[in-house]
Amino acid sequence: MDHSGTAPADDQQPPADDSHLGAPLVELSGVDKYFGDLHVLQDIELTVRRGEVLVVIGPSGSGKSTLCRAINRLETIDGGEIRIDGQPLPAEGRQLARLRADVGMVFQAFNLFAHKTVLDNVTLGPRKVRGLSKSDAEEEAFKLLDRVGVKNQAAKFPAQLSGGQQQRVAIARSLAMHPKVMLFDEPTSALDPEMINEVLDVMEQLAKEGMTMIVVTHEMGFARKAADRVVFMADGQIVEEATPEEFFHHPRSDRAKDFLSKILTH
Ligand SMILES: Nc1ncnc2c1ncn2[C@@H]1O[C@H](COP(=O)(O)OP(=O)(O)OP(=O)(O)O)[C@@H](O)[C@H]1O
Ligand SMILES: [Mg+2]
Repeated sequence: MDHSGTAPADDQQPPADDSHLGAPLVELSGVDKYFGDLHVLQDIELTVRRGEVLVVIGPSGSGKSTLCRAINRLETIDGGEIRIDGQPLPAEGRQLARLRADVGMVFQAFNLFAHKTVLDNVTLGPRKVRGLSKSDAEEEAFKLLDRVGVKNQAAKFPAQLSGGQQQRVAIARSLAMHPKVMLFDEPTSALDPEMINEVLDVMEQLAKEGMTMIVVTHEMGFARKAADRVVFMADGQIVEEATPEEFFHHPRSDRAKDFLSKILTH
């Protein structure tokens, strides 16, 4: 697939303005992944440029989480190549730890360390991987916790926080590693409705500040406001790629039309 941003000749939409985007940062070429006989990622071609916000959307089981996990090397791939900032994903060892620092990830289920305070959750990685002193790590952690609006929760344990607060701490914890790209896998889908926006607001702010983001979400409001591009996945394939407006108003494939009619009626 051509990712250069040029619209096909029969497309009525003008090409999206991508002048704010930089060089390719995440590149997947010919990526294949199997779970036994199940071909979960099928010849995936995808390039995410520096500063780009990509929303990944698609039915359950289509491979969205596997895609994120492959980019963070939490899953191995069986074919093709993934590059981060020009470097192929390392298999293991110190380089892998460095890659993990470059690629931040926030999951659906809250994944903070339950037995550590909020402050310790945020300072642990910078101290261990980036080699910061306790006081430097804490100084930065307070700034990040302030930025996501939970500075006053620093001494608490995760279980003492609401789901929305926990997700914002998870975002701060990822940011503390100074990632080049942030992956979000349905970060609001386990939240009570009144907490969804406080997390989406933080993500939107990050997007505005130029963070490169890959976001699996069905939150169309976020996609409309923050995404440069939407990728629709089905059965392990990228079926459609468009700007949010194009995708939500003029889906081309039957799979996307069917999917949108279901989520829009909810
Ligand atoms: N560790 C695993 N072992 C075997 N099969 C798996 C494993 N992880 C995922 N799968 C299967 O791979 C397919 C893709 O799963 P994945 O979690 O990537 O989908 P998804 O698009 O994220 O779905 P959802 O919207 O429900 O989160 C599914 O059929 C799933 O059952
Ligand atoms: Mg998933």
